[in-house]
Amino acid sequence: SEQGCLSVVVLGASGDLAKKKTFPALFHLFAQGFLQSGEVHIFGYARSNLSDDGLRERIRGYLKGASEEHLSEFLQLIKYVSGSYDSREGFEKLNKEISEYEMSNKSESSRRLFYLALPPSVYPSVCKMIRTYCMNPSGWTRVIVEKPFGKDLHSAEELSAQLGDLFDENQLYRIDHYLGKELVQNLLVLRFANRLFLPLWNRDNIDNIQIVFREDFGTDGRGGYFDQYGIIRDIIQNHLLQVFCLVAMEKPVSLKPEHIRDEKVKVLQSVNPIKHDEVVLGQYEGYKDDPTVPDDSNTPTFASVVLRVHNERWEGVPFILKAGKALSSRKAEVRVQFKDVPGDIFRCKRQGRNEFVIRLQPSEAMYMKLTVKKPGLEMATEQSELDLSYGMRYQNVKIPEAYERLILDTIRGDQQHFVRRDELKAAWQIFTPLLHDIDAGRLKAVPYHPGSRGPKEADELSERVGYMQTHGYIWIPPTLA
Ligand code: BG6
Repeated sequence: SEQGCLSVVVLGASGDLAKKKTFPALFHLFAQGFLQSGEVHIFGYARSNLSDDGLRERIRGYLKGASEEHLSEFLQLIKYVSGSYDSREGFEKLNKEISEYEMSNKSESSRRLFYLALPPSVYPSVCKMIRTYCMNPSGWTRVIVEKPFGKDLHSAEELSAQLGDLFDENQLYRIDHYLGKELVQNLLVLRFANRLFLPLWNRDNIDNIQIVFREDFGTDGRGGYFDQYGIIRDIIQNHLLQVFCLVAMEKPVSLKPEHIRDEKVKVLQSVNPIKHDEVVLGQYEGYKDDPTVPDDSNTPTFASVVLRVHNERWEGVPFILKAGKALSSRKAEVRVQFKDVPGDIFRCKRQGRNEFVIRLQPSEAMYMKLTVKKPGLEMATEQSELDLSYGMRYQNVKIPEAYERLILDTIRGDQQHFVRRDELKAAWQIFTPLLHDIDAGRLKAVPYHPGSRGPKEADELSERVGYMQTHGYIWIPPTLA
């Protein structure tokens, strides 16, 4: 290619994230022709003593959805280098391997992508090693990192400063994998390419907005990690807040990554301090049975938090960000609820309001709840829907995995779907006071049954701030005949 050969270095190659997400994403890109044999090499780096084949065997079982031929061709691109995360020898060896490959490739320039599939505690030392021993002498060097970026504003800023001393902002790609989801990427198009929504998207017409994440399993063996963080740091402060930005921000000047990220920062900076009486925390019963979780843990596995945006568009409109583990179902959606019809002659109120729902997963869809005449001889009304279900409408389209897309963006140098340093800071500013209050036990998590809707206090909170649940109406994703 014009840009030269590409080396992708997966640090933490024998870990969980690498096996489950990074290598499969690289494999899918390869199978679709985005990474080509003579042009790309993949290096796995970790502490374990493994051979190239040893690593290949470890990840083989996770690579699915393409032919056996593709698979072995892909596996042949992978080389393993072992070393520690703070030793000069290891990184010199890594650099030597990469350089040899680059020389043998004979292209004029080259590209180096480092993917840190590692716990953040080693980010500073690994980045230092890369900076010192592995920089590309003849083309770009980019580094992908993923949350948790610190535990609060202070620790996050410290980490940002450490990385910022080593790399420029345009070399750092902070992943929030929600930004790689199809329907999250669609939010910008929906909002700004449809005349239908433009005039409605504000406090005059919208009553409340919910951004909801539900999982039907608990912390499943990740209790040790999870208990240090809790649901707000794990899901709300990053994934749901990113979705919030795209729903609430003003129209960017253009689609340039910096223009989009400028608007995200602005809306984050317009969020008011969170009030304790607009927060409900929960912890599912049985969470503390995990031996790695302390018996007196107050860590929330569920939280509902109301954000209020102090600007002309949103004054008075609650954004309810809600996330929970061990609930009755698994889904993620944005639910925009419109105000009642003034001077309603049909008395529809009891049937429910207009709602525009964007279902991020599973079964990607958008649907709009409308009041229609109930078909038949009577003049009666009922709720129905306009439905755009992706499985029906796009039957032969395969929706790419988030990581696949984000790695490709990194190779292309597009930072639109990555978190900028000032954005991260603004996100921590919103949640840090609340998190400190929870950590200090000033706010308690109430117990809820695993497999339930979460604490009833959360439903009460949503209702109190204006959400009106439609009774007797349930949208069912259509299935293909
Ligand atoms: C991760 C969280 O970032 O996102 C996990 O650490 C969570 O706790 C996961 O399960 C959810 O991602 P997805 O793409 O399955 O919704």
